[in-house]
Amino acid sequence: MIDVSVENLVALDQAHLIHPLHSTSGHAANGPVILVSGQGVIVRDVHGKEYIDALSQLWNVNVGHGRRELAEAAAEQISQIAFASNYSGQANLPAIRLARKLVEISYPNMQAVFFTSGGAESNESAFKLARSYWKIQNRPDKVKIISRRWAYHGVTTGAMSATGMNTYWPQFEPRAPGFVQVAPPYCYRCELGKTPGHCPIDTAEDLEQTILREGPETIAAFIAEPVMGAGGVIPPPPEYFPRVREVCDRHQVLFIADEVITGFGRTGKMFALDHWKVLPDVVSFAKGVTSAYIPLGGILISKPVAEAIQSLPPDQPWMHAYTYSGHPVACAVALKNIEIIEREGLVAHAAEMGARLIKGLEALQSLPIVGDVRGLGLMAAVELVKDKASREAFPASLKVGPRVLAAGRARGVLYRNRGDVLEMAPPLIISENQVDLIVNVLGESIQEVAKQLEY
Ligand SMILES: Cc1ncc(COP(=O)(O)O)c(C=O)c1O
Repeated sequence: MIDVSVENLVALDQAHLIHPLHSTSGHAANGPVILVSGQGVIVRDVHGKEYIDALSQLWNVNVGHGRRELAEAAAEQISQIAFASNYSGQANLPAIRLARKLVEISYPNMQAVFFTSGGAESNESAFKLARSYWKIQNRPDKVKIISRRWAYHGVTTGAMSATGMNTYWPQFEPRAPGFVQVAPPYCYRCELGKTPGHCPIDTAEDLEQTILREGPETIAAFIAEPVMGAGGVIPPPPEYFPRVREVCDRHQVLFIADEVITGFGRTGKMFALDHWKVLPDVVSFAKGVTSAYIPLGGILISKPVAEAIQSLPPDQPWMHAYTYSGHPVACAVALKNIEIIEREGLVAHAAEMGARLIKGLEALQSLPIVGDVRGLGLMAAVELVKDKASREAFPASLKVGPRVLAAGRARGVLYRNRGDVLEMAPPLIISENQVDLIVNVLGESIQEVAKQLEY
């Protein structure tokens, strides 16, 4: 029998578990927060301490914790048939039904779905789909993928090569060839030093120049998160995505929307490009499709692209496959999860609570180290700075962001940080009181750290 005392769990964790983004200094001195249960927006650790899960774990527990219905959907499917392949020649009921449902609730130009088990696999699939689409069109040189600095698309080799947060590269280089990066519309820290309304990044001119410089005949696709997530919750200016769409059309470049975070209601729309009435060619999804109750991801594929794949002759199938593509248990859970999102009106609720969250955070602008507040729906961030006027950042050695994170954790709210940017994306079911708590605790935590820094 394994000793499950807390001290032993911490020792076992340190000995045997390599964590994602592993760092021995990543845990507090008394070990990681080991969660054992959750209900709604609240999670509980091994000590019995409760927290508000202000990031829905990893932006993904959209319907909140502890949903018995989802457990029952999984149990029911396991008792029918736990696994049935979707490889050519076979299919299973939940995968067929879910593919149909996703086509119905996503963009009107979508036609088909290929399932994966997570976000990085979805983006890999999207890149390979784009390349194969152009080869089918007799344009075999269209292979490059353009992404944006500060983007996060996952860490498998292709996804890492598209990921624009450069701390993910050095330990694993060389990156895959054929990936090119452009500036993001990160207006608070514009790479060109421009102001909103006067910036070639916001109008996608910068993207167009890159396509022209590389040669449009070499570009397969452009990938973007509608609202950048891990990079610091960066929503675009309103003109950005309509202009991106025009540029992609002009140069016959497929537009892949990475909606791994923004899908399934997170921004107050079922899918986020709907905010700007823009239609992508491919949508990568994962996380919220099952509210993380079980791993699942995939790509939604627009009609012309799907038809190209569907029209391949029988002796030349599309040579892309994962054993767990369309896993029946994951698809059954996804169907029930989407039913809950629709039945409880969670997309509209996320829009309402998101507006309250961002309004609340804006009031923190008066604190001496709050530089920027931004977000869309239930995705929000607060960027802390040493000097508000010049936007000068704190030296990384001061660990301002991690200190605010720890102060929030001590007060019972789990946020996330990217450097000195504090990120939030609570479950879509959150109440007004819980939104206010997230804001108030963040304010107190920032004030505590500002005081230590003698502001
Ligand atoms: C926008 C985006 N794309 C892709 C991924 C990668 O997903 P996964 O970790 O499931 O591979 C993430 C993960 O956070 C993400 O936020």
